[in-house]
Amino acid sequence: MRLVFLGPPGVGKGTQAASLAADLAIPHISTGAILRQALERQTSTGLEAKKFMDAGDLVPDAVVLQLVRDRFSEPDAAAGWLLDGYPRNLDQASALDQLIQELQLTLDHVIFFDCAETELVRRLSGRRVCRNCGETFHIEFAPPPESGHCSGSGDCEIYQRSDDAEEAILKRLEVYQRETGPLVEHYRGLDQLIVVDGATAIEDVAQSLRGVLGLTP
Ligand code: AP5
Ligand code: MG
Repeated sequence: MRLVFLGPPGVGKGTQAASLAADLAIPHISTGAILRQALERQTSTGLEAKKFMDAGDLVPDAVVLQLVRDRFSEPDAAAGWLLDGYPRNLDQASALDQLIQELQLTLDHVIFFDCAETELVRRLSGRRVCRNCGETFHIEFAPPPESGHCSGSGDCEIYQRSDDAEEAILKRLEVYQRETGPLVEHYRGLDQLIVVDGATAIEDVAQSLRGVLGLTP
């Protein structure tokens, strides 16, 4: 299966993608996570992306397209993939379309998670993430274990993303409305869009998602 997850910052794309990709045995490809890893490793791509990410802006299209292209060429992507956070504007959508044609693949569905902005701010400002494995928590809705360690192996450090500061959250929501919002109508027009209510509890969203994809619980 080849899927795109579309939706505003904080709607729960990463949370849902982690479990669905594991269930479907396909890679969860989050461009945001790849960029954060690149930054941790202090690569030139990571360092270049940092100023855009911290400000809540989009990283240049060419940089992100190359990351997606590289990731698609890894062996596990032959089984399918779940793209989380790409594409994020109309130019990226057309670049993805070209890449998919070039690789002679098809995109099965674009899932759009919908949620009101006040709830998104609540989710983003309470988010905590493991720096090592990326496991995501929320101080209220999905609290990190009291031990302070996530369920992944190895060193664990639970931190708050720098772009989850208030100013960057507001900027990301504004950039989302302007740049990414038009993709909803774009994919609806192509008859590829499936809308899932992202405003309900994590387990309920997971259930709706599996329902619309026709997966048995
Ligand atoms: P990225 O990492 O993709 O961030 P984002 O799109 O802003 O989305 P988030 O990761 O913030 O939200 P999410 O929907 O994954 O929510 P989550 O599951 O974590 O991108 C970061 C930056 O990288 C961008 O700003 C940009 O600079 C750059 N970038 C990335 N891709 C790019 C591209 N294609 N082009 C250019 N630049 C790009 O959940 C959020 C919180 O809510 C968590 O705490 C979670 O526990 C909680 N939660 C989740 N679901 C629920 C629920 N149902 N109920 C209650 N709480 C919930
Ligand atoms: Mg995410």
